[in-house]
Formats: sequence, structure tokens, C-alpha cells
Amino acid sequence: MKKISLILFTLAALATSCRQNVNPSSYGESISIAVAPAVTKAAISDGGSGGASFSWSAGDEIGVVAGGQLLRFSFKSRKSDGTASFEGTLPQGALLENGAPVAYPYNPADFAGGAFKLVFPSEYESAGASDFSHRWSGTLSAQTDGSFRSVLEHSGAILRISYTGVPADVDAVRLTADKNICDSGRSITIRTSWHSDAMDFYFPVPEGEYGKFEVALLKGGSTIEGSAKTLDNTAMRLSRGSIYRTPAINMAAPSQGGGVLVACFSFTGNTWTVAQTLSELSGAELYRITPSVAYGDENNSYYDSSTRAYQEQYGPATARPEIQATLGGNGYDTLLLGFPIWYGKAPRVVFTFLDTYDFSGKTVVPFITSGSTGISSAASELRSAYPGINWKTGERLNGRSSAALEEWLGSLGINKQTTSDMTVTVNGKSFGATLADNSTARAFAELLPMTLDMEELNGNEKYCYLSGSLPSAPANPGRIEEGDIMLYGNSCVVIFYESFNTSYSYTRIGKITDPSGLKAALGSGNPSVSFGR
Ligand SMILES: Cc1cc2nc3c(=O)[nH]c(=O)nc-3n(C[C@H](O)[C@H](O)[C@H](O)COP(=O)(O)O)c2cc1C
Repeated sequence: MKKISLILFTLAALATSCRQNVNPSSYGESISIAVAPAVTKAAISDGGSGGASFSWSAGDEIGVVAGGQLLRFSFKSRKSDGTASFEGTLPQGALLENGAPVAYPYNPADFAGGAFKLVFPSEYESAGASDFSHRWSGTLSAQTDGSFRSVLEHSGAILRISYTGVPADVDAVRLTADKNICDSGRSITIRTSWHSDAMDFYFPVPEGEYGKFEVALLKGGSTIEGSAKTLDNTAMRLSRGSIYRTPAINMAAPSQGGGVLVACFSFTGNTWTVAQTLSELSGAELYRITPSVAYGDENNSYYDSSTRAYQEQYGPATARPEIQATLGGNGYDTLLLGFPIWYGKAPRVVFTFLDTYDFSGKTVVPFITSGSTGISSAASELRSAYPGINWKTGERLNGRSSAALEEWLGSLGINKQTTSDMTVTVNGKSFGATLADNSTARAFAELLPMTLDMEELNGNEKYCYLSGSLPSAPANPGRIEEGDIMLYGNSCVVIFYESFNTSYSYTRIGKITDPSGLKAALGSGNPSVSFGR
């Protein structure tokens, strides 16, 4: 039997409660049910960029459980208050009951093995830019006049994947999560019968926390070159009824040509932490080298010669454990290549990475973490395996402070790149601002230009809740500096005009470069603030 429990909302329990008010309608009779969404369908917010609204339309169907069967009710009419009327016929023995589960859209897969469950399908069709499905569910409620109503709630979240520079021959997009998200597992495919240079795809997925999504555009079932992307910068919390936006994937310039890439393999996380800091400090793209088959915890048993890590490291030097090849493009000028020392050397997956992506003629700087071993023998093995690369002396970076890492980057001639700039304009005065190099800032930048009606708080900040949520990874910064632009929670944009110590947690969006005059410009009230690129 397929194991689908992760992605199902079991509604069977609801069907067994409240069995009073059995509908007196008899077999063969046509029944009408009024259905009203708890919030209108159009209220699934897309963070203000539009393109995601929809409403009841001809052909819509709801599924209702009656007498142990899933019945199909068809859309008949709608009222201006958002209520729609659906009609169906009761088969013999089926009675509509108070509390019976109702789901929209109708999906026979929702009714399996005698129980009603809400299933996220593994395939959808998309006929236009604003066309997407969402799962809704509720229960029937018998009215005193014998009619029935149901109020439907969102039953999952929507993940929005945006591409720009989309090739004309794309015919599908595939999303793969790090856990089950649909009836057949971890992957959902949306087939497209339309094309534009910039395309948004809306994937209905169960709410929850995700560590990683992989996406790719397809043509005839094969991945279109340069379209595969792993989204794993931060833990992503997707909530019911809201659209989670990820930074746009630019196919036109997938390689970030001329830039710096920090690519890192890490087993227990030490080297990855260093890689993240290097990426933050340099503004460089961050990429995790991920083996197709993860190394199990037993590989931590350093002296156990039966482990996979031991066998690979002491086996033939030509071993190339498979990796997930999801790095888009290969136009980077400089690669900072991070890995842990395994038995004195670089793990073999690092060689697989260098075999997969051609860095000949490019500058590659290795960095490591280790228990105590230095980098030299690992570096020289890499050097002789890839003589076409312009290798620079690497370093062991265990326990380096952020300042020390910044200094190391400086010694390599890698200075802070700002991923993009932003202007913040209030009451006729404009301030330059830098955006942080994180998925929150990138998603925020996607919303620009944007004007927010901000509210005053505590004599030190102005804030505004966005209508949708942004990726977030809140942490306590310890101190707020005047000019900080932060995200509180996952949707509240805050500009601080005073400096002070804080115990609250935020995700950084950016920083106003020179905040002099900011406080005066923001004033004491609730200003309208424009953010532009
Ligand atoms: C299989 C294995 C072999 C290791 N071999 C060495 C070694 O030869 N020398 C050393 O100093 N540390 C060695 N270590 C320790 C790791 O290099 C060190 O813990 C490193 O920081 C782990 O980085 P990571 O958390 O990014 O995986 C080994 C660890 C493992 C799991």
C-alpha cells in the first residue's frame, strides 16, 4: 500500500460526529448545496503582485461524502457574496448528513479505502499565468429549512516558483520536496500549455516546514539545461491559505557570470556554517554539494573500516559517489570550495563535483574544517587531479570569527558585493540601501517597486504587514542599528530609525547606507514609504 499519510488530511473523523439532522431527501432527488469559502477564493494572497486570484466558475465541482460514498456536485450559480450553489443527485442509500466532509475541487482520489482524505495530486494542468488549483475543505451543515451549507477553508499552502528567461519549448515544471507532498510522493508536475518569458507556477502543497525544494523546467520529460535549481537557503515555513514566494530563477543569466561561488560539501554541518558566513560576507552565491545517497550517521565512527566513508577514502582514487547535479550554469570566475577532511583528504564527492562542473581556467580556493589535519595534502591531491584549474592556497577555517573570515576573503581580493541596491523614499527624501544576501531580501526585492503605508511603533520603528509572507530565518541580532530594514515574523517589514539593544528576533532585509535624516523624514506619524530598485 502506498504510504501517503504525511500528505493527507483525514476527515473521516468528522463524518462520524454530529449525526443528527439527517437530510430527509430521498433517493434520486436533486439536491442543492450552498458553498461559501471562509475567505473568498481571491483572498489567497500573492504578496501584492496579483496574478493569483480566481473565482467560482462553470465546471467547478465539489465532492461530498454521503452514505460512505463520494458524491460529485456541480457548480450551478454564484452570488455576489461569494456563495456558490452546487447541485447533485443522491444515489440509493446515500443521505446527506450534518458534519459530512466537503472538498473542492472534486477529486476521486480523496475517497480511498472507505475513508475520506484530502489528497494533493501529483499532476496539474496550467492553462494560463493566473491559473492554479488549491485544495479547500469543510463540512456540511444542515439548515433549519432542510437545505445545506458548507464553509470551506484552505487545506494547504501554495508554493510559488517563478522563472524568468523561460525557453519557448517548456512543457512542464517539476517540484520535488524533501518530504511527501502529494498522492504519489515527493514530486509534483504542472503541465503548461502556455508560455511567456516570465512564468509563475503555483504548487498546492501541504502546510509545514520544508528544508529543501528542487525545481526544474521540463521538455518531453527531460530537464531543460540550466533550469534545475535547489532552494534550500533557509528553513521554509509554508502556512495554510498563503502563497510562499521563492526568489525568481533567472534562466537568461543562470550562471551569474563573473561572480564568486561558494560550493560546499558538509557531512555534520561544520564546513557548511563557514560556507554560509563566507557567502554572507562576500555576497557570493552559495551552493551545497549534495550526494545522491546521503552518508549515514555510522560514518561518524571514524575508526570503523566498514563504513562507506572509510571504504571510499581508502578505496580507488577514481571513486566518484554520485551527487545531485543541480547547479545552474557554470560561468563563475572564482570558486570557494569547502569540505571536511576525511582521512587526511577531500571526500570523494568533491571530486565528483569538479568532474561534473568544468572549472578549468577558473580560480578555485579550497577551504576545510577538520579535527586537526591541515589542508595541504587534500589540496595537493586536488591540484594534481585537476591541473587545468588555477588553484589558490586554501586554508583550514575552523572556529574563525566573522571578522577573520572577512579578512581572509579580503586577502583573496574578494570584497563584499551587494546583490542589489534599493532606494527608500519617504516624504520626498530618498535613501540608498543595500539588500542582504539571503532569500528574504531576494523575495522582498521581487516585490519592488512597492509603497507601504507604515505605522509608528515605540518611537524607534515604522512597520507594515505585507499581504503575503516572505521566506524567513529569524535570529536575535542583539542590537538594532538606525537604518536597519528587518522582517519580523514572516510578513512584517520594519524600518528602524533609532539604535538600541533588542531581545527580539528578525530576518535582515537590508540596511539604509547613510541613515542621517531618516528619523526626521519618517516623522512621528504613519508615513507612506516607497521602496524601489
Ligand atoms: C569519516 C570522517 C573522517 C574524518 N577524518 C578526519 C581526518 O583525517 N583528520 C581530521 O582532522 N578530522 C577528520 N574528521 C573530522 C572532520 O574533518 C571534522 O569534524 C569536520 O569539521 C567535519 O566537517 P562537516 O561538519 O562539514 O562534515 C573526519 C570525520 C569523518 C566523519
